[in-house]
Amino acid sequence: MAQSAIADSAFLVNELRARNPSLSLDQYAHLWVNDRTREICKTYDQEVYPDDEVALGIRNRFFFNLIETYFQKPGDKIFVNLGAGFTNYPFLIRTPIKTIEVDLPHVVDYKKQKLSEFTKSGKLPVRDINFIATDFNDSGDVAKLEKQLLNYIGNSESLFLLEGLTYYLKPSAFRSLIELICNLQKPNSVLALDYWPPHLRNHETCEKFRIIKL
Ligand SMILES: C[S@@+](CC[C@H](N)C(=O)[O-])C[C@H]1O[C@@H](n2cnc3c(N)ncnc32)[C@H](O)[C@@H]1O
Repeated sequence: MAQSAIADSAFLVNELRARNPSLSLDQYAHLWVNDRTREICKTYDQEVYPDDEVALGIRNRFFFNLIETYFQKPGDKIFVNLGAGFTNYPFLIRTPIKTIEVDLPHVVDYKKQKLSEFTKSGKLPVRDINFIATDFNDSGDVAKLEKQLLNYIGNSESLFLLEGLTYYLKPSAFRSLIELICNLQKPNSVLALDYWPPHLRNHETCEKFRIIKL
């Protein structure tokens, strides 16, 4: 899939979350939606799956509740969001949490620029997020990422999130990320992810998702 289409997917999920904020619990998703995203989403509704806003709303709600609960208990903890896209979790959690977001370079650059605008204009509360630009499909990048993350994490407990990411990765890249996480996580840490089980490979919706031109 082309890099622009991968970034489009990060916009698209926010349109799906923004359609029903009382379900997704994401009051900021609309900030990442523009006319192009709405157009793409219409095509997605028609050509792939018309009810994804329910699935995406529930997904966001589930991960938000998980992160909030994890960080309610005191401790030296850090949130690492791999393939973070334009998610808003550090802004949705009322108390600031230590956060690292990792994504492709052009996604990270765009997000940093927009966050600066949104916080200056008061649309988002101020949060201190550390960004790392990486291509998970590049083994050199992943080796470098492990060292960078180790510097941040040290002996802290961590919650790693891979949301809407696994099906974009080569199987070898996915295995490398899981190894990286095993190397870095201390006891009482959490790994949260969504994935499509292999038996759904030929499901009609998965087929349509693979061939859609965003
Ligand atoms: C469907 S979006 C999901 C974004 C976000 N996690 C969410 O749930 O809104 C997929 C994300 O994975 C990132 N991604 C895909 N392939 C990647 C790769 N090889 N390396 C780094 N990030 C990648 C994309 O840039 C995009 O932000």
